[in-house]
Amino acid sequence: ANGAHVPVLVIGTGYGGSVAALRLAQAGVDVHMVEMGMAWDTPGSDGKIFCNTREPDYRSYWLRTRTKAPLNYFLGFPIDRDIPRYTGVLDAEDFSGITVYQGRGVGGGSLVNGGMAVTPKRANFPSILPSVNPAEMYDTYYPRANAGLGAATVDPAWFDSTDCYQYARVGRKHAQRSGFPFVFVPDVYDWTYMQQEAAGTVTKSALAGEILYGNNHGKKSLQKTYLAQARATGRVAVSPLHKVTSVTPAASGGYTVVIDQLNTNGDTTATKTVTADRVFFAAGSVGTSKLLVRLKATGALPNLNDEVGKGWGDNGNVMCGRANHLWDPTGALQSAIPCSGIDNWSAGGAFAEVAPLPTGIETYASFYLSITNNPNRARFSWNAATGTVDLSWQTSWKQPAIDMAKTIFDKINAKEGTIYRTDLFGVYKIWGDHLTYHPLGGAVLNKATDNYGRLTAYPGLYVIDGALIPGNTSVNPFVTITALAERNIERIIAVDL
Ligand code: FDA
Repeated sequence: ANGAHVPVLVIGTGYGGSVAALRLAQAGVDVHMVEMGMAWDTPGSDGKIFCNTREPDYRSYWLRTRTKAPLNYFLGFPIDRDIPRYTGVLDAEDFSGITVYQGRGVGGGSLVNGGMAVTPKRANFPSILPSVNPAEMYDTYYPRANAGLGAATVDPAWFDSTDCYQYARVGRKHAQRSGFPFVFVPDVYDWTYMQQEAAGTVTKSALAGEILYGNNHGKKSLQKTYLAQARATGRVAVSPLHKVTSVTPAASGGYTVVIDQLNTNGDTTATKTVTADRVFFAAGSVGTSKLLVRLKATGALPNLNDEVGKGWGDNGNVMCGRANHLWDPTGALQSAIPCSGIDNWSAGGAFAEVAPLPTGIETYASFYLSITNNPNRARFSWNAATGTVDLSWQTSWKQPAIDMAKTIFDKINAKEGTIYRTDLFGVYKIWGDHLTYHPLGGAVLNKATDNYGRLTAYPGLYVIDGALIPGNTSVNPFVTITALAERNIERIIAVDL
């Protein structure tokens, strides 16, 4: 409520925020979480909380009047459609050189993502987070994060027999024939539920194209894991449709936090001011970076250091499809939950997720989201003229990512006698190089913050989300974001509280 005083305020309810809330509550601290998106706990008139990829409706996008599908063409035709403006679950946030996809709602990215829960290879860790001791991460915090998230791998025998992973088996065959390691990767989807979907005994979810705009059944989003545990402590309150706009030192000590309450049209209906002893920035890489850069530039937090806004990367994301021969169908039924990848990281700088195209019809296409070692890093800066935070990323900075992805797919195409699809991202366009699903950095650990996420110029202010990670994790990022948050909050509780 307006004028309230809280011990801890957490901005955002994604991975970092959920870890912070749970561990602080378990330590006996009352926590208030503020989330700009919706609660996503109430079904619409169709009985479902979320819509699916084949019929995007008002629930799909954050304050857009037209969908902006990551794969925006099919057979050369644009597929985007008009929708009512609404505080939907997926934000396609446009910067001048890149569109950054993010989840909006209680659970953050866990609402919209594919659930791939991948721990990086230990050999790669020193380049991911150079200031963090690998032993403590691999002995303690990665296992803790994977347990808390409920990560598990598909049963290989079921994988081999089910129609819904035909596309991934084709991916495996082509990878292995070209000499690339094919790996199963864990996911937070309930695999027993998926087997029941395939058997026809439960309502279909992954097998009904539910991804991107939310998942109604089998995915263990944060609402079912960390946030459920946090609420069960009785110490965690969550305010959805509330957006933090300012944090500044309070005269009486602690911090004054200004919060806009939103309606589902995105309009501000009330502005509230609360005081918090401690504030955790967990608004995601983009959300936290935008807040900190603006608050530094506009004088609310002028002593934040000059590293704030720097070191942002796209996790090297780039997408492509391949056109298979008619004897290699990928299946009309495709599980929307990926379970495997092609690892060419050490030789070629690319790890390719074998991704679904859950269109419901046979496409003879193999589709991949590659995570690459693209070295380019961008910077957020305050634009006083427009009153917005800009990101310096340029479209051409994806070229190293394309080159690294080609180390896998040029070889597979040569071996199989196949070609790239040119009809998925435009008319005669091979590479999906306009977007990322994996924003990382902008308030880098041990640079913008100390080695545990403290914004040291302001005691009691912390960063605890993907903004801490300097641009790349070599695999999908949320397990690393969760594990780093587990490491940092343990230290903060032990030393600062
Ligand atoms: P996260 O973005 O999760 O949460 C931040 C929250 O803060 C959001 O809910 C946001 O609305 C809120 N917020 C922002 N500003 C605010 C403000 N001013 N006031 C109040 N609230 C505010 N990763 C992976 O490991 N495996 C995968 O399979 C995938 N797949 C995938 C698919 C798609 C389509 C997307 C978009 C993303 C993925 N990801 C993924 C990425 C993964 O979801 C992402 O890395 C994490 O959600 C980031 O976690 P954070 O805690 O940093 O922020």
